[in-house]
Amino acid sequence: MAKPDKHVFVCTQSRPAGHPRGSCTERGAQDLMMAFGEQFEEKGLWGKCMLTPSGCIGACDNGPAVLVYPEGVLYTKVTKDDIAEIVDNHLIAGEPVERLKAAPELW
Ligand code: FES
Repeated sequence: MAKPDKHVFVCTQSRPAGHPRGSCTERGAQDLMMAFGEQFEEKGLWGKCMLTPSGCIGACDNGPAVLVYPEGVLYTKVTKDDIAEIVDNHLIAGEPVERLKAAPELW
Protein backbone atom coordinates (compact mmCIF):
# COMPACT_ATOMS: atom_id res chain seq x y z
CA MET A 1 0.00 0.00 0.00
CA ALA A 2 1.39 3.40 -0.96
CA LYS A 3 1.58 6.10 1.68
CA PRO A 4 -1.41 8.43 1.07
CA ASP A 5 -1.01 12.13 0.37
CA LYS A 6 -3.84 12.88 2.81
CA HIS A 7 -5.59 10.79 5.40
CA VAL A 8 -9.10 11.80 6.42
CA PHE A 9 -10.50 10.58 9.72
CA VAL A 10 -14.22 11.06 10.29
CA CYS A 11 -15.33 10.61 13.87
CA THR A 12 -18.16 8.08 13.81
CA GLN A 13 -18.32 7.59 17.57
CA SER A 14 -21.77 6.75 18.87
CA ARG A 15 -23.08 6.84 22.41
CA PRO A 16 -26.30 5.79 24.10
CA ALA A 17 -29.29 8.12 23.67
CA GLY A 18 -29.26 10.88 26.28
CA HIS A 19 -25.52 10.66 26.94
CA PRO A 20 -24.32 14.13 28.09
CA ARG A 21 -21.54 14.32 25.48
CA GLY A 22 -23.71 13.24 22.57
CA SER A 23 -21.76 11.93 19.61
CA CYS A 24 -20.70 12.69 16.07
CA THR A 25 -22.88 9.86 14.77
CA GLU A 26 -25.87 11.49 16.45
CA ARG A 27 -24.92 14.71 14.64
CA GLY A 28 -24.70 13.16 11.18
CA ALA A 29 -21.23 11.65 10.84
CA GLN A 30 -22.44 8.74 8.70
CA ASP A 31 -23.66 11.25 6.10
CA LEU A 32 -20.14 12.72 6.05
CA MET A 33 -18.58 9.31 5.44
CA MET A 34 -20.98 8.77 2.53
CA ALA A 35 -20.29 12.22 1.10
CA PHE A 36 -16.51 11.77 1.34
CA GLY A 37 -16.80 8.37 -0.32
CA GLU A 38 -18.79 9.85 -3.20
CA GLN A 39 -16.29 12.67 -3.62
CA PHE A 40 -13.32 10.26 -3.55
CA GLU A 41 -15.01 8.22 -6.27
CA GLU A 42 -16.00 11.21 -8.40
CA LYS A 43 -12.57 12.86 -8.17
CA GLY A 44 -10.42 9.73 -8.42
CA LEU A 45 -8.85 10.07 -4.98
CA TRP A 46 -8.83 6.41 -3.94
CA GLY A 47 -5.19 5.36 -3.80
CA LYS A 48 -4.01 8.94 -3.30
CA CYS A 49 -5.99 9.68 -0.15
CA MET A 50 -7.39 7.47 2.60
CA LEU A 51 -10.74 7.72 4.35
CA THR A 52 -11.11 6.12 7.77
CA PRO A 53 -13.91 6.20 10.34
CA SER A 54 -12.55 6.87 13.80
CA GLY A 55 -13.54 6.86 17.42
CA CYS A 56 -13.90 10.04 19.45
CA ILE A 57 -11.42 12.78 18.57
CA GLY A 58 -12.34 14.85 21.63
CA ALA A 59 -14.43 17.57 19.98
CA CYS A 60 -17.82 16.04 20.78
CA ASP A 61 -19.61 19.31 21.55
CA ASN A 62 -18.47 20.66 18.20
CA GLY A 63 -19.06 17.59 16.08
CA PRO A 64 -19.23 16.13 13.64
CA ALA A 65 -15.44 16.27 13.63
CA VAL A 66 -13.07 15.53 10.73
CA LEU A 67 -9.30 15.31 11.10
CA VAL A 68 -6.95 15.53 8.11
CA TYR A 69 -3.31 14.43 8.18
CA PRO A 70 -0.44 14.99 7.59
CA GLU A 71 -1.32 18.60 8.51
CA GLY A 72 -3.35 17.64 11.57
CA VAL A 73 -6.18 20.01 10.68
CA LEU A 74 -9.31 19.48 12.75
CA TYR A 75 -12.62 20.55 11.24
CA THR A 76 -15.67 20.91 13.45
CA LYS A 77 -19.42 21.22 12.93
CA VAL A 78 -18.95 19.77 9.47
CA THR A 79 -22.01 19.09 7.34
CA LYS A 80 -22.29 16.99 4.22
CA ASP A 81 -22.57 20.22 2.23
CA ASP A 82 -19.00 21.09 3.32
CA ILE A 83 -17.38 17.91 2.01
CA ALA A 84 -16.81 18.96 -1.61
CA GLU A 85 -15.10 22.14 -0.39
CA ILE A 86 -12.78 20.16 1.94
CA VAL A 87 -11.97 17.75 -0.86
CA ASP A 88 -11.35 20.41 -3.53
CA ASN A 89 -9.53 22.95 -1.38
CA HIS A 90 -7.64 20.82 1.11
CA LEU A 91 -7.18 17.33 -0.28
CA ILE A 92 -6.62 18.36 -3.90
CA ALA A 93 -5.32 21.95 -3.76
CA GLY A 94 -3.59 21.68 -0.37
CA GLU A 95 -5.32 24.69 1.20
CA PRO A 96 -7.24 23.90 4.40
CA VAL A 97 -10.74 25.38 4.68
CA GLU A 98 -10.25 28.12 7.24
CA ARG A 99 -13.94 28.68 8.03
CA LEU A 100 -14.32 25.07 9.23
CA LYS A 101 -11.15 24.81 11.32
CA ALA A 102 -11.57 24.09 15.02
CA ALA A 103 -11.20 27.09 17.31
CA PRO A 104 -7.63 27.50 18.65
CA GLU A 105 -8.71 26.76 22.23
CA LEU A 106 -10.14 23.44 21.09
CA TRP A 107 -7.23 22.18 18.89
S1 FES B 1 -17.84 11.91 19.51
FE1 FES B 1 -16.85 12.75 17.76
S2 FES B 1 -15.34 14.01 18.63
FE2 FES B 1 -16.18 13.00 20.34
